[in-house]
Amino acid sequence: MKILIINGSPRGEKSNTMQMTKAFVEGITSATEAEVETVTLKSMRIEPCLGCFNCWSKTPGRCVIKDDVRSITLKMFASDVVIYSFPLFYYSVPSKLKAMIERQLPSVAPFMEGQKDYLVNGGHPPRFDAHYKTILISTCGFYPTDKSYDAIRAQFDMICGPRNYIELFLGEGELFSREVAQRRCRAKLEVVRRAGEEYGRTGTLSEETKREVGSHIFPPSMYAHMADAGWGVELEDFRAPDEETVKEVAALGKTIKLTY
Ligand SMILES: Cc1cc2nc3c(=O)[nH]c(=O)nc-3n(C[C@H](O)[C@H](O)[C@H](O)COP(=O)(O)O)c2cc1C
Repeated sequence: MKILIINGSPRGEKSNTMQMTKAFVEGITSATEAEVETVTLKSMRIEPCLGCFNCWSKTPGRCVIKDDVRSITLKMFASDVVIYSFPLFYYSVPSKLKAMIERQLPSVAPFMEGQKDYLVNGGHPPRFDAHYKTILISTCGFYPTDKSYDAIRAQFDMICGPRNYIELFLGEGELFSREVAQRRCRAKLEVVRRAGEEYGRTGTLSEETKREVGSHIFPPSMYAHMADAGWGVELEDFRAPDEETVKEVAALGKTIKLTY
């Protein structure tokens, strides 16, 4: 099995999410032969799409921008499993990962005529029958993951087909880099490793395993307390943004009260 990990965290190697991804892949490789490659978007050249549509007209299937996206796309095509590993940013994917996804436009053809979903959702036909499975692994800072990930689910439902991917989403993500939480985080990573093993053996995950991976690390009030305390700033201090910000907002000439 060929696995490509796309690390979309701007923290690169220091990503919380990558701790989960590494545990999951470790589980897979303990159960089956696998060749694993990671691309770390943080250290790659990924320009935003120009919207020129040359990839549909002058050079069909090829983007005019010469950067690292082409090699990532070819690695995706060559894979059996593509794992997107990313933090939730403003209820979506981080911008460099979004740019990489937009730059996949050369992989689809423009034509709408004859498309069965033409009147339903406007999907374009893929140019290549690359056949890889998609797994989404993500952590976020808030506690629940049901509503927060709705935009991600909606986006990947359109890209991969409805629920045609496996999702491992976990709240309380910042705990992975907090010393005090290490014992419970290690236990969670062991659960994730076992999930990887199950995936390596069966090519899928049971609902029970998915629930176990997504279950909380700490009770809600304890997490809120730990997360707030972890910033090294007292709650009262948040009421005073830095002086320059206060001046800039005051200069707007509109009555804007400071709330936090
Ligand atoms: C710009 C920015 C936006 C974020 N937006 C969200 C969000 O919408 N919801 C959430 O729960 N956490 C949010 N977070 C927290 C991250 O998802 C969380 O810290 C994550 O565990 C970081 O993972 P990483 O170390 O793999 O990058 C945000 C963090 C940043 C820096």
